[in-house]
Amino acid sequence: MGQNRQILLEHIKQPDQHTLAGYESRGGYAAIRKALSMDPTAIIEEVKKSGLRGRGGAGFSAGMKWSFVPRNTGKPTYIVCNADESEPGTFKDRLLLEKNPHAIIEGMMVAALAVQSHWMCVYIRGEYAHPYHQLKKAVNEAYAKGYLGKNIFGSDYSLDLVVHRGAGAYICGEETGLIESLEGKKGQPRLKPPYFPATMGLYYSPTVLNNVETYAAVPWILNNGGDTYATIGTEKSKGTKLISASGHINKPGVYEVEMGYSFEQFLEEECGGMLNGAKLKAVIPGGSSVPILRAEEIKGATMDYEGWNKLGTFLGSGGVIVLDDSVDMVDAIENLTHFYAHESCGQCTPCREGGHWVAKIFKRINEGGGLPGDLELLETLCNQIAGHTICFLGDSLVMPTRGFTSKFKDEFRKKILDALEGRPVNTKSLNARFETSH
Ligand SMILES: Cc1cc2nc3c(=O)[nH]c(=O)nc-3n(C[C@H](O)[C@H](O)[C@H](O)COP(=O)(O)O)c2cc1C
Ligand code: SF4
Repeated sequence: MGQNRQILLEHIKQPDQHTLAGYESRGGYAAIRKALSMDPTAIIEEVKKSGLRGRGGAGFSAGMKWSFVPRNTGKPTYIVCNADESEPGTFKDRLLLEKNPHAIIEGMMVAALAVQSHWMCVYIRGEYAHPYHQLKKAVNEAYAKGYLGKNIFGSDYSLDLVVHRGAGAYICGEETGLIESLEGKKGQPRLKPPYFPATMGLYYSPTVLNNVETYAAVPWILNNGGDTYATIGTEKSKGTKLISASGHINKPGVYEVEMGYSFEQFLEEECGGMLNGAKLKAVIPGGSSVPILRAEEIKGATMDYEGWNKLGTFLGSGGVIVLDDSVDMVDAIENLTHFYAHESCGQCTPCREGGHWVAKIFKRINEGGGLPGDLELLETLCNQIAGHTICFLGDSLVMPTRGFTSKFKDEFRKKILDALEGRPVNTKSLNARFETSH
């Protein structure tokens, strides 16, 4: 397997790649020209053949999703790009928004033709100021050149694109929360079913909603063929994946890897190994909501959907967080659960109340107030949250909670016992830097 083929980041280092001229000089906007001459169902077939799966976390087939969009409903059909990227440890969409915005725009345009939509929107995280300006400039350039707006590329097809800034809520990354927010309401997720965006999305109309990276892969697929894309990667995980790598490594950053790449090789060759040669303790492979792995578990791990699933975790959004043996796991999970509890939209009692209880218990253990039965209490709370909520945010707090407490049980037990037996509780506090008011 030719490892680490560059598709999304191939030209990222070119200083003018973010401009329309730069993008077009390297083959940009060829895919949409091609798509304009294709039958919409043929576009969907091409994307299906590629095996491209959503890069926002769930990994659902992009072509299948597009094919679920009903035709002739009498309502408009919308294209929405999820650029709310707020999962701790995930910052890969940001790079595309800043350095390759035309690839995202072009991918969305191809999706629009595939489902015959005339209105598109990028919902971008409010804190992403520079990415927003880069994207907005790209959109303006595309309008000025007649690539967006009325009669695109001189055709009889009209297509608009709006860039909408969010107000900084993690839950607006959940697709139905995003849609509610886009409609001007509180960003609170809708029940699924019936509100699957493909059939009942924005303004309860058919909507294609994909992640930034998913759209950005589409131009290459149209230009080179779905079959060619499907030769890259593994049997079930096709193509390449952007990985945001952070933590105790020498070279944190965004990397593009071919699906199926060896994680150990990734750590050594791309990330430059452990920072200061420290000992690896654990890895969170797919953004902070996925289950953590101990150092010994990553032996032979491959970076693809199935590869991580085999180890009981997920590729998720591709946010790799590497922890060395200086990390206090009680402190780390207190920090993570505080984030998820804080970001609850409040609709479901198990998430709203249970999430805060979990975070409070970790804070208490971490600060030397651990009690016998705390770990069992945490598990009871997890049982009552997981699967009992409208959206997946509840589970996003439960998965790391279970992972940390089961894989590093001794550290939790030690803090509880130290507190009970009057010994000073060692808090190497990452959290001391954050005032947690709960
Ligand atoms: C709490 C929560 C937060 C999410 N945040 C994001 C996000 O920031 N960006 C994203 O693309 N998907 C996010 N997702 C996943 C989206 O709901 C949705 O599955 C995704 O945008 C679909 O695009 P894809 O099929 O291209 O991955 C989130 C999901 C949940 C439950
Ligand atoms: S699980 Fe949490 S974030 Fe999701 S809808 Fe329920 S309360 Fe809101």
